[in-house]
Amino acid sequence: MSSYFDDCYSSRNFNTIIYITMTVNLNIKYKELADLLKELAPFKPEISLILGSGLGTFASSVKVLKTISTDELPGYPPSTIVGHEGKIHFAEYEGKKLLLFQGRIHFYEGYPISECVLPAFLSRKLGCAKILITNAAGGINPDFHPGDLMLAISFIAFSIKKELSSLIGTLSEEGTNNLRSFPSETFNNIIRKSAQKEKIDLKEGVYWFSKGPSYETPAEIRMMGKFNVDSVGMSTVHEALYAAYSGLEVASISCITNYAAGISKSKLNHSEVTDTANIVKEKFERLVKRIISQV
Ligand code: HPA
Repeated sequence: MSSYFDDCYSSRNFNTIIYITMTVNLNIKYKELADLLKELAPFKPEISLILGSGLGTFASSVKVLKTISTDELPGYPPSTIVGHEGKIHFAEYEGKKLLLFQGRIHFYEGYPISECVLPAFLSRKLGCAKILITNAAGGINPDFHPGDLMLAISFIAFSIKKELSSLIGTLSEEGTNNLRSFPSETFNNIIRKSAQKEKIDLKEGVYWFSKGPSYETPAEIRMMGKFNVDSVGMSTVHEALYAAYSGLEVASISCITNYAAGISKSKLNHSEVTDTANIVKEKFERLVKRIISQV
């Protein structure tokens, strides 16, 4: 007797296969968690920041009113990376109310996309209007060097299209409209002006989402270069897409921590990424503070 799968994949039935994408309803999945965080929040935040490499200690440079360890929140995915503690800070800078996510949930840790976008989901639930997503990335554009900062003008995420559809399902008209201005040109213009004021040479480019957990091969990077991709990293795109879909103004800045594999002669290693992030810290914090004061 043939199995269901044999039947589906036999040439006879091939045309009848129907792909069903289940949409995950985050409002249901995270109801308890979101309600608890709202109760604990000392205020309604305006701007959310997901702090990537180079901004890991940003919270200590602003006025923090409350810090919640993500371990205290039921259902919040624990970080599997040593030294990556998860914290959510409610903070203020220049009169702006901030929600800071220190530590993120990565796809390469084995979490489904519906869990990786939790910071974006919670930002919306708590009432933020804007989200600035930061990350570490490898530089592919030959004009980029470790220590540069890159404003994302677009994203590529071929490898997780199916997972992304499971988040947003069939788009409503409102969702489609929200995704038309993603990343937000208004927000990006504020960031460009902030960089000028701080005399920071802000690069611009396209960010490619790589599933990880290992870095890319030189051949993969050569291929990305041929597609005019400027940087590559293992986060951000799904967070940005979900945030934009749910109505937030989204922008993203990458800290170019290394030449992507094969771009330079030396072999890529993780300590290069953390070392550059430490060097860039002062410049990155200065830029982000200026952005906050301008929004
Ligand atoms: N590739 C992918 N992710 C990264 C890199 C890289 O070169 N650098 C920092 N995050």
